[in-house]
Amino acid sequence: MTRRILVTSALPYANGPIHLGHMVEYIQTDIWARFQRMRGHEVHYVCADDAHGTPIMLRAQNEGITPEALISRIGQEHRADFADFLIGFDHYHVTHSEENRVLAEAVYRALRAGGHIAVRTIRQAYDPVKEMFLPDRFIKGECPKCGAPDQYGDSCEVCGATYSPTDLKNPKSAISGATPVERESEHYFFKLGDFEAVLKNWLASSAVQPEIAAKMNEWFAAGLQDWDISRDAPYFGFAIPDAPGKYFYVWLDAPIGYMASFKALCQIKGMDFDAFWKRGSETELWHFIGKDIAYFHTLFWPAMLAGSQHRLPTCVRAHGFLTVNGQKMSKSRGTFIMARSFLNHLNPEALRYYFAAKLNGTVEDIDLNLEDFMLRVNADLVGKVVNLASRTAGFIQRLFDGRLAQELHDPALYHEFVAAGDSIAAAYEASDTARAMREIMALADRANQYIDQHKPWALAKEGGREEEVQAICTQGLNLFRVLMTYLKPVLPGMAQKVEAFLHFGELTWDAPHQLMLHHVIQPFEPLMTRIEKDKIDAMLEENKTTLPGPAAAAPATEAKPAIEPIAETISIEDFAKIDLRIARIVKAEHVEGADKLLRLTLDIGSETRNVFAGIKSAYKPEDLEGRLTVMVANLAPRKMKFGLSEGMVLAASGAGAPGLFILSPDEGAQPGMRVK
Ligand code: MSP
Ligand code: ZN
Repeated sequence: MTRRILVTSALPYANGPIHLGHMVEYIQTDIWARFQRMRGHEVHYVCADDAHGTPIMLRAQNEGITPEALISRIGQEHRADFADFLIGFDHYHVTHSEENRVLAEAVYRALRAGGHIAVRTIRQAYDPVKEMFLPDRFIKGECPKCGAPDQYGDSCEVCGATYSPTDLKNPKSAISGATPVERESEHYFFKLGDFEAVLKNWLASSAVQPEIAAKMNEWFAAGLQDWDISRDAPYFGFAIPDAPGKYFYVWLDAPIGYMASFKALCQIKGMDFDAFWKRGSETELWHFIGKDIAYFHTLFWPAMLAGSQHRLPTCVRAHGFLTVNGQKMSKSRGTFIMARSFLNHLNPEALRYYFAAKLNGTVEDIDLNLEDFMLRVNADLVGKVVNLASRTAGFIQRLFDGRLAQELHDPALYHEFVAAGDSIAAAYEASDTARAMREIMALADRANQYIDQHKPWALAKEGGREEEVQAICTQGLNLFRVLMTYLKPVLPGMAQKVEAFLHFGELTWDAPHQLMLHHVIQPFEPLMTRIEKDKIDAMLEENKTTLPGPAAAAPATEAKPAIEPIAETISIEDFAKIDLRIARIVKAEHVEGADKLLRLTLDIGSETRNVFAGIKSAYKPEDLEGRLTVMVANLAPRKMKFGLSEGMVLAASGAGAPGLFILSPDEGAQPGMRVK
């Protein structure tokens, strides 16, 4: 029976580049979609950029461009990254589109007609300078619990306390620096609780993994709260019908973006939209997501669908997070790797294979260990799979003009390979590609053992045993063809080259049932080369220079500010008051009892200064000694607990981004030179 499947990956935010963490998701989904297509099913794989929300609006303002211009530029970058990683979307859209506006309004109107929208007045922090309401992540102040400065409005990064922004001491707007005031505003709420029974039923249909089901039960037990779906102007999003000055919160129209992308595809291909979305539809709807956005996809989204007479998802499949070398991806460690940096130096199919070998269909995190990545890809793909073809194809080419034998040398072995297909297919179906890759590599080992045992190279030298050589190599190439069939969802580019090389039709899942005998193959071309360590190093090196602002690292929900906003304009006279000097750090030392500070002795030509700098988290004292930096030389001295600080060194840091970076002048600058 042909299944009709609509499959989606979560929509990446349009405010930053794609990184390797994202790629876990798109690679996982693409492998599943390609597998289903190979099985002969009807598959539509759609995605889009998630273009709305405060961070995107502010980032565009900072760049001095319209949000439309920003999202169109980022959309192009995203598409190119995905295409180069061989992600086979049938359509890639954007949530800021007419299709999505129409659908979002329709869903909202249906919810309202069903009595599922409530309107209430709430009090919220407001930035009187920027004249806008402030999301929690845009308010900073001192932690009410431990007093740490510069903490966000929802939680403290120092002591881990969570609180509401009104609890912050000395709160400041992260956008303008102004002290926020409280203001009232009418908000629109989606009454999630109305759908408790629907959601419990859906949960019982095993639409989610056991770990997510357990989470959902916790959420049910805690009680389903109304969800605030409106935001006040200024906001980059869709206006709410009949509600002047109100916009849909980005997470309201983001999942509707799945529908909108499919709608656009239907228009291109003349397909029936309702067949996939109407209540009672018998097609399948699969959403692949990261575990961080399960709440949105397993509560709000099914409830919105149910409340607007749509079908519910067949399955929401969540994966874990990517760590690099065992740790959270980090800019300061250089492991926050952009998709483009990877592509500039390494083979995308190597990463597809490595992720496939790690992903097991659960929400466990997976690690990209760069050393292990290199060894594994070289051992498995180059050493086992490609090698099988290269060591047999040569004989067929040289001795038999490319013609394969009439019969297999070991039919029983071949049939074992064919029989393994069902178990491998079941693993793919469950996104347990780790098991699929293990089983395929076990077969590859068997195939290589077979060749080692029969030594065609030795027989070829003996003379008079050509027929055996041909039969053994024919066997090897038939086994290779089965392996490449099983690997095709993971390695579509390599599979395509193999199809051209074998010249024996498309590798569909059933292809191994047909033997490749008495057939002429094409000359063998290298299919994949070994990964060399210097390529990985070059990637890491390049990646350092292209790290984006904090936007890409921000949490998936209402994100941290993309980039700290530009401060109020000052005159050239104001600027001239600041005396910046080149300084040599002649000494750097720890300060007893201070967690953040280093004591620096600075030579600024005319004199030396003692400065306490809050850079201990980022620098070892011994690495600083001798280097040049920039200091504010006319800052009023400050008496600190540890002594007098006579100025300040300049360091860059991002709002919410890890890392601190002190400035260095270009070569040739001397201590004492003025910076202006
Ligand atoms: N825009 C929302 C999704 C809306 S879906 C209607 C969003 N965007 S995101 O860009 O932050 O993330 C896109 C997807 O990539 C999410 O599924 C997220 O879980 C996944 N990942 C982002 N960083 C990741 C890792 N470091 N590791 C694995 N997946 C990660 O959320
Ligand atoms: Zn704290």
